[in-house]
Amino acid sequence: MSTLKADVRHQIQFTLNGKPAEGEAEPRMLLTDFLRQQIGATGTHVGCEHGVCGACTVVVDGMMTRACLTLAVQIEGCEVRTVEGLAPAADRLGILQSAFRRNHALQCGFCTAGILMSLDTYLRSNPDPAEEDIRVLLSGHLCRCTGYAPIVKAALEAAREMKTTTAHNEPVHV
Ligand code: FES
Ligand code: FES
Repeated sequence: MSTLKADVRHQIQFTLNGKPAEGEAEPRMLLTDFLRQQIGATGTHVGCEHGVCGACTVVVDGMMTRACLTLAVQIEGCEVRTVEGLAPAADRLGILQSAFRRNHALQCGFCTAGILMSLDTYLRSNPDPAEEDIRVLLSGHLCRCTGYAPIVKAALEAAREMKTTTAHNEPVHV
């Protein structure tokens, strides 16, 4: 990346959940703030702002990414996926979301978007995870209220369901 002037807002063009998107950001603006304030994608949450809690996890070019440790200018030209892209329609949930709902795998929901994005990414390349695999993945996410048992159960249930569907986000009625 060429040198960017600190006091200048830069145009950023990228793909958000499969659609072209653009916004402006100063070089030091974090991806969390850019997504929430500039783009209006407030499903991505901000917790610790230190890369610890996992609440801000989004997917950039197929990689789980802590948005609080990423600069907005770094996503120029990238394919970004956020929790807003998981549901196939406004009145439908994706498989993972539906499994979380069935299993009461969230309470306040603050951690949920990040966990969903990590699981969605992980299960795309690991469609047959063991419980231990899910627990290791979840070690990168802090949930202060639900407890992890229902989250693990929902993740395993969703993995089984995904294997039997052709599309990863096959629509599931709410
Ligand atoms: S807000 Fe990014 S990891 Fe906690
Ligand atoms: S559901 Fe509240 S922090 Fe996880």
